[in-house]
Amino acid sequence: MTRPVWAEINLQALQANFQRSCQAAPFSCQVAVIKADAYGHGLLPVAHALDTFVDAFAVARLDEARQLREQGIQSAILLLEGFFSRAELLLAAELNLATVVHQEAQLKALEESTLVRPVRVWLKMNSGMNRLGWLPSEVASVWRRLQALDSVSEVILMTHLASADIPSSGQTDAQLDCFESTCEALSGQRSVANSAAILTCPRAHADWVRPGLMLYGVAPLQAAMEPSLQPVMTLRSRLMAVQHCRAGERIGYGGDWCCPEDMPVGIIAIGYGDGYPRHAAAATPVLLNQQRVPLIGRVSMDMISVDLRSQPLAQVGDEVVLWGKGLAVEEVARHAGSIAYELLCQLTKRVKKVWL
Ligand SMILES: Cc1ncc(COP(=O)(O)O)c(C=O)c1O
Repeated sequence: MTRPVWAEINLQALQANFQRSCQAAPFSCQVAVIKADAYGHGLLPVAHALDTFVDAFAVARLDEARQLREQGIQSAILLLEGFFSRAELLLAAELNLATVVHQEAQLKALEESTLVRPVRVWLKMNSGMNRLGWLPSEVASVWRRLQALDSVSEVILMTHLASADIPSSGQTDAQLDCFESTCEALSGQRSVANSAAILTCPRAHADWVRPGLMLYGVAPLQAAMEPSLQPVMTLRSRLMAVQHCRAGERIGYGGDWCCPEDMPVGIIAIGYGDGYPRHAAAATPVLLNQQRVPLIGRVSMDMISVDLRSQPLAQVGDEVVLWGKGLAVEEVARHAGSIAYELLCQLTKRVKKVWL
């Protein structure tokens, strides 16, 4: 038996989650965000599973877009950060990509380049997140400069929300007020909503929504589970050893966890070398034979330990789920002081992916 660590990717669940986004924003076009290897789920299998349903895909790197085109993906593709050089702009036009334009160097490159075909531009406004985008005071003149170019086929106005996952924060309304009033006199389609806003903020839906996290079955709201979403990735392993420890014995590196009584301890083949979060704290849940058992001791590179007092009959080879079906990745992330996005993206190469 080889080391039994694998991630099952359920593409039907992905499609069902996509339908949930369509249902939540029925009047908007859908841009499926599949950057970072489709949030760790595999760029190409995810793109193929969604290709006939989406209005566009969004990625962060031109390389990802090129792979999609090479593999026959015909849908529109948006570069979420735009192009990083003039050579990339030329290539983006050749590959028939749409591009975000968020700063002067990109606008100048568009003004000074001759492209094989005009590109669709997503003019990104900074409405308060202060990461990328034009200031409200700059938007109208940028929009006019773009409209004047033969190399631009269409201008879509967009912004990104900083706190859509915290509806009580008030920041989303402030950003929407800013975006709407700045763009009021400008023609063109609009795009604002990420997953959290798709599910909770109809005002943000506009012409195009941009679901990412929810496609992968993760509840985007910090405060609430979303039962209509199905986990797409299930990270699996097996029990590889059982220790019978005495009261007072210590578990793992640093001996952080001390056995309160004589007890069985399970060793599972998964560790930070696979992408399991090193900072997962004691009591992080793990599913063993579909029952929850708590993590104990530190996460090592290749292994974790669990308390088997509630599962005294557990045996080497028994099935383990680290997250996914039956155990939400967001719950594991909370125990690790992290977020689901990070856990999904950080699986390492040695975890075999199996697409179902
Ligand atoms: C510009 C933009 N739109 C949409 C998304 C999708 O966000 P989420 O995964 O929260 O749905 C992202 C993700 O970071 C993004 O950067």
